[in-house]
Amino acid sequence: MSLEIIILAAGQGTRMKSSLPKVLHSLAGRSLLQHVVDTASQLNPSAIHVVTGHGSDQVRRSIEHPGLQWVEQEEQLGTGHAVMQAMPAVSPESVVLVLYGDVPLTQVATLRQLVALAEKAPALLTAHLADPQGYGRIVRDANDNLVAVVEHKDANEEQRKIREINTGLLAAPCADLERYLPLVKNDNKQGEYYLPDVLSLAVEDGKTIGSCCAENELEILGVNDRVQLNQVEREYQRRLAEALMRAGVSLADASRLDVRGSLTCAEDVSIDVNVVFEGTVVLGSGVKIGANCVISNAVIGDNTVINPMSHIDSATIGTACSVGPFARLRPGTVLADKARIGNFVETKNAQVGAGSKVNHLTYIGDCDMGSDVNIGAGTITCNYDGVNKYRTTIGSGVFVGSNSTLVAPLDLEVNSFVGAGSTVTKKVAAGELAVGRARQRNIAGWDRPAKKRSED
Ligand code: UD1
Ligand code: CA
Repeated sequence: MSLEIIILAAGQGTRMKSSLPKVLHSLAGRSLLQHVVDTASQLNPSAIHVVTGHGSDQVRRSIEHPGLQWVEQEEQLGTGHAVMQAMPAVSPESVVLVLYGDVPLTQVATLRQLVALAEKAPALLTAHLADPQGYGRIVRDANDNLVAVVEHKDANEEQRKIREINTGLLAAPCADLERYLPLVKNDNKQGEYYLPDVLSLAVEDGKTIGSCCAENELEILGVNDRVQLNQVEREYQRRLAEALMRAGVSLADASRLDVRGSLTCAEDVSIDVNVVFEGTVVLGSGVKIGANCVISNAVIGDNTVINPMSHIDSATIGTACSVGPFARLRPGTVLADKARIGNFVETKNAQVGAGSKVNHLTYIGDCDMGSDVNIGAGTITCNYDGVNKYRTTIGSGVFVGSNSTLVAPLDLEVNSFVGAGSTVTKKVAAGELAVGRARQRNIAGWDRPAKKRSED
């Protein structure tokens, strides 16, 4: 039997108090709905239907996944009504799994278990909670068979004591949903068509409802406000940090690391406090990341040290390099092995050759630099004339004295030398010394200015 997945994402999310649709709020660098879509696609379904309503256009534009089937629910009349909107597009032969755009962390294995229970009758994912407040309660008969789900708002005092709750996640043969959904009524406190009501209808019809229990609460936690969003984020980060440590990464403080994307680490990486990783980051073995660094979309080679307070964005860094403290590597930076980038240095679209040093207060942009180059403090590649950008080429073994401005397009050939304080506008040939600064004059017998006497 084929599997089709329906993701409900039409709700407004009033309690988020936000102009952004709830399912687009970010969890670890991806939207809530993107997490759910990514999880759904790991089950290899033959179709994924996403029901949208509030902020439909924005939601549709912001989800990356080919072949999603979007369904509009114009009025939010309840979860049962929402599933109904998707049913015409679902193959009658399939098993249907219903997921929620605001329940982002369900495990694939749990969902597989649920789907396996739903070949002949509906099956429900439940959970046992210490505090079941707000959730639909699972009502079972004397034989422990599930007979109904009672919403918190509709439950009596006895029922409210039940700790087994409806996670909302449900799987059922398409035929059962087609049979029971049209029979669901909205005569309840919220005046909504509740999806879980199909369960009691199936029971009345003589069916036995399958159920399985989620292993941990986080899997089923729905996000309704920003407090819950933060709970999910922290728990997600906690798990991720734990997995990194188990894989051989040392963290100074597991609670002061944020990974907003994917972080892959070889052995013996160590990460100090308050480091943020974004996008796709790969760290080689023995890499050390200092405190307060932000590292986005970067590959960092073995044994490289990123010193504190550095910002790295879309850069490739070789082995045994040293970067920072206070370095800013911008997109297109490529450091070869053993390169050194020091404090208050900014690089962009720049190749820095093996063993080259750019240690202090420097801007290197649109530059191809060979190996073993030494760039003095305060050097600027002047790559922009206000209209166009130009490149600077610096050959291997070049020495640039401090406080030099290199006006591009410019070529400093191998082993050339630039005197400190020079403004260099013309090519310097191999081995030449360029000095482009005012000549020093020393004036002998110079009388220092004396303080004027005030006349009274
Ligand atoms: C639902 C369940 C409840 C369960 C809880 C678990 C129902 C009636 N209740 O309650 O038993 O314990 O989840 O979190 O199913 N949605 C739509 N269209 C609608 C209504 C809802 O797309 O017309 C979407 C919402 O965007 C949301 C999800 O369905 O993502 C759940 O809806 P919500 O109203 O939040 O249900 P709960 O009260 O949380
Ligand atoms: Ca909810």
